[in-house]
Amino acid sequence: MAAAEPWKGCLNLAEIEAAGAAAMAPGPRAYYEGGAGDEVSLRDNRAAFERWRIVPRMFVPNVPRDASVEILGRRWPQPFAIAPMALQRNGHPDGEVAVARAAAARGLTYCLSTCASATFAEIEAAGAPRWFQLYLLSSRERSQALLEEAEATGHEAVILTIDTPVTGLRERDIRDGYALPEGVEYCLIRRAGSQRGTSVLDDAIQPTYSWDDLAWVLSATRLPVLVKGILHADDARRAIEMGAAGIIVSNHGGRQLDMAVAGLDALPAIAAAVGDRGVVLMDGGVRRGTDVLIALALGARAVLLGRPVLFALPLGGEPAVGHVMDLLAKEVDRALNLSGIPNARDWRREHLVRAGTLPGAAG
Ligand code: FNR
Ligand code: LAC
Repeated sequence: MAAAEPWKGCLNLAEIEAAGAAAMAPGPRAYYEGGAGDEVSLRDNRAAFERWRIVPRMFVPNVPRDASVEILGRRWPQPFAIAPMALQRNGHPDGEVAVARAAAARGLTYCLSTCASATFAEIEAAGAPRWFQLYLLSSRERSQALLEEAEATGHEAVILTIDTPVTGLRERDIRDGYALPEGVEYCLIRRAGSQRGTSVLDDAIQPTYSWDDLAWVLSATRLPVLVKGILHADDARRAIEMGAAGIIVSNHGGRQLDMAVAGLDALPAIAAAVGDRGVVLMDGGVRRGTDVLIALALGARAVLLGRPVLFALPLGGEPAVGHVMDLLAKEVDRALNLSGIPNARDWRREHLVRAGTLPGAAG
């Protein structure tokens, strides 16, 4: 029985990732797991969290606790959503549908990738609150068609990802011979008119970005637009001043420019630059409830959960993905309880110290 539902024995997201990776064929595993180059940025996304410590307070009433946050007019029950990630059918035949259903059951927002292996209609039917992640395609007509379909199928925001003019140097994919498995397709890009290829970059994705492209996307949709992949405060400031509703601070899970700064390290300056003019989210390396809260303390309104969701898929589809979401939510609650900071919205820089430094004696 345990073998039929191997995810049940996993106590945390790291164990899910290890078990899921072991259950996958080498090519799809490389695609999910790998980073770019020497994977320094991939490792740094984890290390960045470990460079902080929480300074808990005692004798604080621990009820009620409140993990919820408000994002673009919707109350999120947890301060995390599901990151946009390509080709979820690499991990399980139900792919994106399994993840979106698990999100729906918990009221979590599901971000649908342009590189999804499911259709807009399938995701709409799953019923989760949803955002659409846009890669600009090689013509504005095709990008416009995606935006219109995203609006028509109930997406509440657009994420424009701008760190991917070309894929990062993913040597694991090459070494392990990653190719689209039989039965896995780029459903949205194909529908938007491109050729089927083994790489999304073959003909689909626009190879250069300029600020004019952001202006165009802002004019092409009535939905709020968040820009994902920003790591410099000046870029964040400019995007917000042009009308972006928010910034997702991210190095794309270490998959694009290796040696790029970790999202968590870039976060404080970007949060300061944006202030209350927009929503700031971050992703990269979030694996524990305490990671979520550290990101909130450093200025994120919420975070995106990435690879652990993908690695749950081969372990059992929707219930395994749901287990990942529940583990993280329970860890958030336990940390709210133990820290003496029982409301997620109250986490601030003053609740943290740099590892290796001493809490101030003042006050
Ligand atoms: C991604 N990511 C991503 N981002 C995006 O904007 N569009 C996409 O299609 C994808 N596809 C994708 C596929 C896979 C296999 C991975 C692992 C990641 C990046 C994703 O949104 C997020 O930034 C990272 O996954 C965060 O890092 P961790 O926490 O997953 O390590
Ligand atoms: C990736 C692209 C699709 O990271 O975003 O694989």
